[in-house]
Amino acid sequence: MKYIDTPYFHYENDSLKCEEVSLADLAAEYGTPAYVYSKNYFRDRFREFTEAFSSVNHTIFFAAKSNFNLNVMKIFYDLGSGIDVNSAGEFYRASKIGADPKRMLFTGVGKTEDEIKLALENDVLVIKAESFQEIERINEIAKSMDKKAPLAIRVNPDVDPLTHPYISTGLAENKFGIDASQAFDVFVESAALSNIDLHGIDMHIGSQITSVDPYIESVSKITELIKKLKAAGIDIKHYDLGGGMGITYKDEKPFSPKDLADRILPVLSKVDCEIFFEPGRFLTGNGGVLLTKVLYTKSNRIKNFIVVDAAMTDLLRPSIYNAYHHIQPVAKSAASDITADIVGPVCESGDFLAKSRIIPDCGRNEILAVLSAGAYAMVMSSNYNARPRAPEILVDGENHYLVRSRETYEHLLYDEQILDKLHQH
Ligand code: LLP
Repeated sequence: MKYIDTPYFHYENDSLKCEEVSLADLAAEYGTPAYVYSKNYFRDRFREFTEAFSSVNHTIFFAAKSNFNLNVMKIFYDLGSGIDVNSAGEFYRASKIGADPKRMLFTGVGKTEDEIKLALENDVLVIKAESFQEIERINEIAKSMDKKAPLAIRVNPDVDPLTHPYISTGLAENKFGIDASQAFDVFVESAALSNIDLHGIDMHIGSQITSVDPYIESVSKITELIKKLKAAGIDIKHYDLGGGMGITYKDEKPFSPKDLADRILPVLSKVDCEIFFEPGRFLTGNGGVLLTKVLYTKSNRIKNFIVVDAAMTDLLRPSIYNAYHHIQPVAKSAASDITADIVGPVCESGDFLAKSRIIPDCGRNEILAVLSAGAYAMVMSSNYNARPRAPEILVDGENHYLVRSRETYEHLLYDEQILDKLHQH
């Protein structure tokens, strides 16, 4: 098996560390399963992104949906990032770190009226609309509040981002944005609405994109639209390119922010707009691991199984996208490799972390690290099978901090109660 070593998760004397902290020690202290994040990974990726685009007027809005732990959001916010929120719940979380709504984008393909009101009441920087009906509703709500809604319109450029179909968003067949062919008319009609202040144009073509080409294709289409809009007297102040920059889970060779900047800036220079980005996975994905313990191993006539204490409830990506996450023991093993399915305790055949994976023959209680669990891991967790959510631990150099405790059984009940009146007959 191949052991993966990065500057943030590396072996020292055959023992895996996050920065300067031993993962075996963290598993012993906090139990498993547990998410562990590297603060310096987050910081370095944010700086890498900012530096790549330092020659242009740009703002990064961290996509909270990829990892909305309060302390993780605050790391990016304190470095100068804004926050892209996709719901009232994410707005609430961002507010809890003291984020200024003027540094927030309010996103979402189906915002409720309450969410639109919330965004307007709090004066978020921009509300991103995805349909003309929604724009009309935003206009009416803004009117009733005697406000002008700062609006960006998401355009679907109909470009194939060459990623998993469930995380493609920029094809005409996807539910997102306004079709490129209708966009000009929608902008013109929206600009004429009394309580809309049209700020910008927005796209987000998909996630885990590993080639710059789909960005170039989309940006070429959208810069043409911007030029046409400007010629028609509609001022586009910002162009939001969304997120989507891919990372290495297995052997993907994604582009770097610098690669993106080198190719995209010459195209973008044709329009005079501030540039927004909404990266999530790029900033967080490879900055986290999920620690899990081997409970049992077994073999049948055709397969080996390693049953661990983490499940699809902690990391859903393998189950729903058949996603690959590298898994390696935190203590380098002398055992010979076997091929095994690494599965969780939930009663679903879809509950697996890896299928037919080559891994050293593990024994009970061995701790494994599931890599690339900094994005779309904890945020997609659930309480299925009444499993409490795992804790989150943030490492900074030789220090570590419990930034969210393991849920207790009381958390599982919330305010659910036995209602006596229901059981009297
Ligand atoms: N902006 C918008 C409007 C988005 O919908 C998303 C992600 C992002 C930004 C951030 O995208 P990123 O840079 O992280 O690719 N659960 C899936 C990913 C879903 C992405 C949803 N939207 C996964 O685990 O792969």
